Amino acid sequence: MCGIIGCVGRPDETLDVLMHGLGKLEYRGYDSAGVALADGDVGGRLAVAKRAGELDALRSVVDHTGTADGDLEGSVGIGHTRWSTHGPPTDANAHPHTDCGSRVAIVHNGIIENFQGLRDDLEAAGHEFTSETDSEVVTHLIEAALDEGASPEGAFRAAIARIEGSYTIAAVFAGTEAVFAARNDSPLVLGLGESATYIASDIPAFREFTDRVVYPDDGEFVRLDAGGGGWTVSDADGEEITKEIDTVAWDAEDTGKSGFEHFMLKEIHEQPRSLRQCLRGRVDELGGRIELPEIEELDPTAVQFVAAGTSYHAALYGAALFRAAGVPAQAFLASEYVTSVPPIGDDLVIGVTQSGETADTLSALREARGRGAETLALTNVVGSTVARECEHVLYIRAGPEIGVAASKTFASQLAAINLLTLATVEDGNREVIAALRDLPSTVQAVLDESTAETVADAYADAGAYFFIGRGLNFSVALEGALKLKEITYRHAEGFAAGELKHGPLALVTQETPVIAVATGDGELARKTVGNVKEVEARGAPVIAVTDGRSDVERYADHVLSVPETHPRTAAVLASVQLQLFAYHTAADLGRSIDKPRNLAKSVTVE
Ligand code: F6R
Repeated sequence: MCGIIGCVGRPDETLDVLMHGLGKLEYRGYDSAGVALADGDVGGRLAVAKRAGELDALRSVVDHTGTADGDLEGSVGIGHTRWSTHGPPTDANAHPHTDCGSRVAIVHNGIIENFQGLRDDLEAAGHEFTSETDSEVVTHLIEAALDEGASPEGAFRAAIARIEGSYTIAAVFAGTEAVFAARNDSPLVLGLGESATYIASDIPAFREFTDRVVYPDDGEFVRLDAGGGGWTVSDADGEEITKEIDTVAWDAEDTGKSGFEHFMLKEIHEQPRSLRQCLRGRVDELGGRIELPEIEELDPTAVQFVAAGTSYHAALYGAALFRAAGVPAQAFLASEYVTSVPPIGDDLVIGVTQSGETADTLSALREARGRGAETLALTNVVGSTVARECEHVLYIRAGPEIGVAASKTFASQLAAINLLTLATVEDGNREVIAALRDLPSTVQAVLDESTAETVADAYADAGAYFFIGRGLNFSVALEGALKLKEITYRHAEGFAAGELKHGPLALVTQETPVIAVATGDGELARKTVGNVKEVEARGAPVIAVTDGRSDVERYADHVLSVPETHPRTAAVLASVQLQLFAYHTAADLGRSIDKPRNLAKSVTVE
């Protein structure tokens, strides 16, 4: 959801660090942005600048020499990029928020559930609110504690003790050279540089300056101090906690665009590399074995997947793989799982989540754990909440994904799910192992030869798009439709190819292209071809995603080809074609591809 950055460093650099960090965090929300800086002068003051709109709106008022809001200099600072929950994106609702006396500024990611009662009490006590946000109560709670004589840290802790909900909150105080932060159910990572320290919602915010990180846990407090990079993590009673320092496994360049016009295009093209990373050291082809020491003890007899969005599509694929291996398995939308929890028994419950922070998925996993289930996290983000809460973790190792629409992480989720089934419930499936080995190069071949741009150009004006597939290609169809709707804002639906005739066929006309995913030459492909004939008979243009092994091409107006491979890896190749199709359609329509309207990459509210 929102992105937070904080820094304690040199007065002439802190603002630049904050603005750089916000640029890297914009994928988390881009409704408005702001910064607050403080220095240690006695009687010092806060400088705040914030603007509705994308970061460029803030950039235009932050010129490093001063703004209408005050001189923006200071050794300590915090910044925020927002995805609105309480109150529309306006200057007033943008973070940071300050108290009545401008002694403290805070930024917040999450939801404060008991804010209304607190606000009523604070207003009754004379505090004046300037925004509609839930977050602003924190500044006035801090102010009230300061008025009672608390120190800045004491006041910060007192305010945190009063709030309920999910949050990462960071604060700076006029006249205090420190940044304070606390977290509960919301991401926070600490970066340790040579002469500066950082906090952020995600590592890309400060990766350029350091690769040394610390992950505070829920309920912990962080204090960054000026002068020599001092930092502490402590519990709610103020007791210092010894934390491990980790080293980040990827480079700062991984969070740049590397010459591509959009992060999404770069990430689509990165898939051969990210898949190699996912598979590296895990596939023993000679021995026909998968090496996954991290999940060695797992021996699932039944599986439930919980996930949202793209990750849910990977979960559908995963459940199909387990079932094919004779293990009962089902995929659930995480947000629905908690409304009617299925009997769990001995099921292994697997949370698939790129970010590791999706509130719906975390809730579903907590519910399952509360009922005694063993849980496994399949995630991309090291140290994420899901990774810390589940008993077992399998990292998909896709590297940072910045484009809001998932691409390379979907491919790596599918690859990692294959590793998982091979390691736990399949006995040496050499064909799949060989196909996985070749997957990075077959994806490269798709990228090199794709005609998706030309096909997308031909249909950029269509009113609606339908995606169909069977079996594993049903998850691919759902994902293709989600990708298209997210970044083009056009109506798109994915259907099980066999379901079309049970209702959706009524929507099919000459104006609605049908994208049919039909790989292989088996029964599923043959039946899909039958469904393609049905739509062709109704005049719909057909785009076939095929490896040429069925005769679907005969009924198609356009073909997006993939190399012949195992059906499991064919699904990955087909989804790459559909990513490119969505991307080029969105580019034709001039959409904001990396930051689609109303969306954010990490959805930390239920
Ligand atoms: C789609 C997309 C979202 C996410 C969903 C779950 O392109 O990115 O649908 O897949 O919000 O996010 P994670 O995987 O982080 O749990």
